[in-house]
Amino acid sequence: MVAQKNLCILILAAGKGTRMKSSLPKPLHAVCGTPILGHILKAAQTLNPAAVGVVVGHGAQVVMDTVKNNLAGWNVTAPVVFVQQNDLSGSGSAVKAAIPLLQKFETVLILNGDTPLLRMETLHDMLHCFEKERASGLVLGVNVPNPQGYGRILREQDGTFQAIVEDADADEDTKKVTEINSGMYVFNSNSLQTALSQLTPQGPKNEFYLTDTLFLIKQMNQRVIVFTSEDYKQALGVNSKAQLAEAQQIMWERKAQELMDSGVTLLQPAQTYIDPEVQIGADTVICPGCYILGKTVIGKNCVLEGGVYIKDSTMGDNVTLKMGTYVEESMVEEACQLGPYAHLRPKSVLKKGAKVGNFSEIKKAVIGEGSKVNHLSYIGDTQMGAGVNVGAGTITCNYDGKNKHQTVIEDHVFIGSNVNFVAPVTVHEYAKIGAGSTITKEVPAHSLGIARERQVVLENKGVKKND
Ligand code: UD1
Ligand code: CA
Repeated sequence: MVAQKNLCILILAAGKGTRMKSSLPKPLHAVCGTPILGHILKAAQTLNPAAVGVVVGHGAQVVMDTVKNNLAGWNVTAPVVFVQQNDLSGSGSAVKAAIPLLQKFETVLILNGDTPLLRMETLHDMLHCFEKERASGLVLGVNVPNPQGYGRILREQDGTFQAIVEDADADEDTKKVTEINSGMYVFNSNSLQTALSQLTPQGPKNEFYLTDTLFLIKQMNQRVIVFTSEDYKQALGVNSKAQLAEAQQIMWERKAQELMDSGVTLLQPAQTYIDPEVQIGADTVICPGCYILGKTVIGKNCVLEGGVYIKDSTMGDNVTLKMGTYVEESMVEEACQLGPYAHLRPKSVLKKGAKVGNFSEIKKAVIGEGSKVNHLSYIGDTQMGAGVNVGAGTITCNYDGKNKHQTVIEDHVFIGSNVNFVAPVTVHEYAKIGAGSTITKEVPAHSLGIARERQVVLENKGVKKND
């Protein structure tokens, strides 16, 4: 997509966020695993702006570092620049600090840095409306059930924009207005700069309100419009931990709805926690209490029983994950079965039809096609071929206190119960390992490896009848 060379997006993220009562700057609080600022940057990116400015102040360094480290993960390719706001005296001052950036562009879209639920479609529509109506200022207004804390949009008799009055400055009648300022705006850059130069401090905290620029632009006989959207939830501003929880709840609800619309079965949508980027195929059934996070992709016709946790992983079709299974950064091919209570740690690969069962842990290992690790095992740093049967309690001893070593188990090996493989070690195809063996040396193909004490029986040394 060609960059919109006249468009700059400015995100205001310098505020103190006092009401969060947190040492973490407000824009970095995560909603469904991604910082609020990440959600905003992702949405902004879809407009393909020539530049994105992030105004930083409170906690500037950590905000900048977090953004820089995550831009690639958020797929943000637009050039992002940081603007330092030294005097934290309101949203108007934040934008003033960015004038050297803004003056290079014709159109500026401004977003508060605390609205994680904004929809990219709305931003596109706002911009389109701004251009079509040849406006100099536009604000996204929504009607909310509880307008407390928000700036109210006042309209003239004829319905056109009049002014925005902050909650702290509102009289009783104004407080009853339910149409609020979402904190998302589009401006003609020149008009905005002129208006900014005319701002005066307002309200109990003597702040420069960005919202006053719309009134001032109107005073200059330029067109200011209120763009309205039915979806008021997208305007939720996160100012407190309660609003953070609310935002998270709404994001989960949205995702659940989207998945159900595309044919996924959620037995209890309100108790299912799925991150926005997750993809799930039709007719997959998800039971309550599942967490599906990050960049996970799940195929069709899978079953996730209750309490399954999956992060940044890929599952093929027809996979069954039984109760309590935990999977991180792993690849599971079609028709595999996991759990109950199986644990795949990062970089595990389960080939088609493999099974990992009760209380088995897999780490950085390939479990070959149709192979089974069904009970109480630890398989780490292992290459396992197809058709292998791993007996209960089998352990790969991959760590010598300093380094990790590889275990190789070739196709069709049969491993008895309670075997230890002291890595590095290789077991060749069609070998058998006797139960209770501690294997320290290579086992050739088709042979039996056995390494344990022979049993002795001592008569009359057992339990005495009257003991
Ligand atoms: C603001 C709006 C209000 C609107 C609401 C929507 C103003 C004056 N009021 O109120 O009309 O209904 O958002 O959520 O803008 N910021 C800075 N530097 C500062 C102060 C704030 O960058 O000096 C940033 C904050 O980080 C935040 C944004 O500006 O992302 C808004 O600030 P906030 O304090 O949350 O404003 P609200 O009182 O919510
Ligand atoms: Ca706010």
